[in-house]
Amino acid sequence: MRLARWWVGAGVTLLAVGALANGESAGGEKTGGDTTVFATGRNAFSFPAANLSDPERTRFVIGNSFFKRNWVQAPASTKARDGLGPHFIARSCAGCHVQDGRGAPPDFTKGLSDPPVALLFRLSVPGTDAVGGPLPDPVYGDQFQNFAVRGVKPEGQVALRYHPVEGRFADGTRYTLQRPTYKFSQLHYGPMARGAMVSPRVAPQVIGVGLLEAIPDAEILRNVRDQAAAGGAVRGVANRVFDVPSQQMLIGRFGWKANVATLRHQTASAFIGDIGITSSVFNEETCTQRQKDCRAAPRGAEGAGPEIDEKTLDDVIFYQATVAPPARRDIADAQVRAGQALFAKAQCATCHRPSYTTASEMFPPLTPRGTSPALFGQTIHPYTDLLLHDVGEGLADHRPDFLATGRQWRTPPLWGIGLIPAVNGHQRLLHDGRARGVLEAVLWHDGEARESRDAVIRFSAAEREALVKFVESL
Ligand code: HEC
Ligand code: HEC
Repeated sequence: MRLARWWVGAGVTLLAVGALANGESAGGEKTGGDTTVFATGRNAFSFPAANLSDPERTRFVIGNSFFKRNWVQAPASTKARDGLGPHFIARSCAGCHVQDGRGAPPDFTKGLSDPPVALLFRLSVPGTDAVGGPLPDPVYGDQFQNFAVRGVKPEGQVALRYHPVEGRFADGTRYTLQRPTYKFSQLHYGPMARGAMVSPRVAPQVIGVGLLEAIPDAEILRNVRDQAAAGGAVRGVANRVFDVPSQQMLIGRFGWKANVATLRHQTASAFIGDIGITSSVFNEETCTQRQKDCRAAPRGAEGAGPEIDEKTLDDVIFYQATVAPPARRDIADAQVRAGQALFAKAQCATCHRPSYTTASEMFPPLTPRGTSPALFGQTIHPYTDLLLHDVGEGLADHRPDFLATGRQWRTPPLWGIGLIPAVNGHQRLLHDGRARGVLEAVLWHDGEARESRDAVIRFSAAEREALVKFVESL
């Protein structure tokens, strides 16, 4: 018995060493350790972690119903879900994270009036607030809200245009990328402040975020040290952000600029900023002084305190934390394996770090209310260092966010990326959804990632295809 186990163990180790020789450990199919679900197709991003207990599954279902449910204008007969707006962008979390997946920029082939929903715009003016965060626009606040309840004016409209950017691979093949520009119009409360800065951000898939929250700080800081020690162009920086629920500065992990530290903050700020629902964390509507109609609009929950109660907020956070990452596909495929070696060769893994072991137990500010023991002690493969990188002028938004400069973005996790087309019916990537697929996303890499991008430019057509296949297997 003992001997048999020893042999199994040795086999696994040999496999791992074999993969490491390629410059990274892909870690088999189980992207999220024991939480992993074997799921493909339209619902691939919507399953509970495989190792949740039965009572936890029930809680997942309750949280999920509030993630999907549409909030309505107050006053309504259903007090438990009124309070939408007064200004808002979507009526539910799932309105942007469709099927827990990736949003897309508006599709102008459907007419110029298609308003952006899953692509939102963060706003600020030069300077920082009391805790080092962005300073909101005095009239429009920190996020542009293009919808409003009846009787209140929406903040305005946004139009999007794409401009072609031509390039060529080393083998002579041409490619055309598209660079977006935005125009704000019908600004109902007058002009934005002078020097107002705008950051477009598309809704990412929300799989495995509880596992990312359970990565120890020390591992993120190790990435900073390892990259600095390597002495190359790649020098990631950990964002440090103010976490409102725990009232302290923490390492940022979520959002395109790692501008949020915890799922509690992320969830409560989405309720207030995106849907207009107050909570114990953010108990004031986002109406600014100049927005008198917004300030006068009726509040939800009969005006008696937060529009979402504490238990429901906890349930949504728990749901969010326990959405499972789906298993990898096609790991034995020859093209995928070739692509894995090319991923290593182009040094993609310097930033898109494959593997971590999550903390062995709960650590502050996480609490049992918003996470699960199922997420701890798991070996996971998210393919991110959770650090900020300057990836060049082409991607810059010129809007700082805590320590993130106007040219830095957080390395996004790559797990599940190949399932976005099945879940969402598109493959729009990068912070503003400009890239139509993995290869376009890579071609936008510059700055610290320039050498990686140039390596891909030198790849043959077959190598490019293999690299994409590998990334899409994650
Ligand atoms: C209006 C569209 C919209 C709505 C509604 C919305 N989100 Fe998001 N969500 C986004 C965008 C855009 C981001 C990226 C934000 C950033 O970079 O600052 C995001 C980021 C997140 C993240 C971080 C994911 C990551 O990998 O960093 C989580 C978790 C999340 N949202 C959960 C929620 C929950 C829970 C709700 C409902 C309470 C919600 N969202 C409502 C658009 C939306
Ligand atoms: C210097 C760090 C760095 C390196 C090296 C790097 N990336 Fe990235 N990657 C990023 C950052 C940062 C972003 C987000 C940029 C944005 O959204 O504007 C990103 C985005 C992506 C995306 C889009 C993800 C999404 O969710 O939209 C893909 C795909 C990707 N990288 C693949 C690769 C591949 C393949 C390589 C190697 C050829 C590579 N990256 C090398 C930092 C890096």
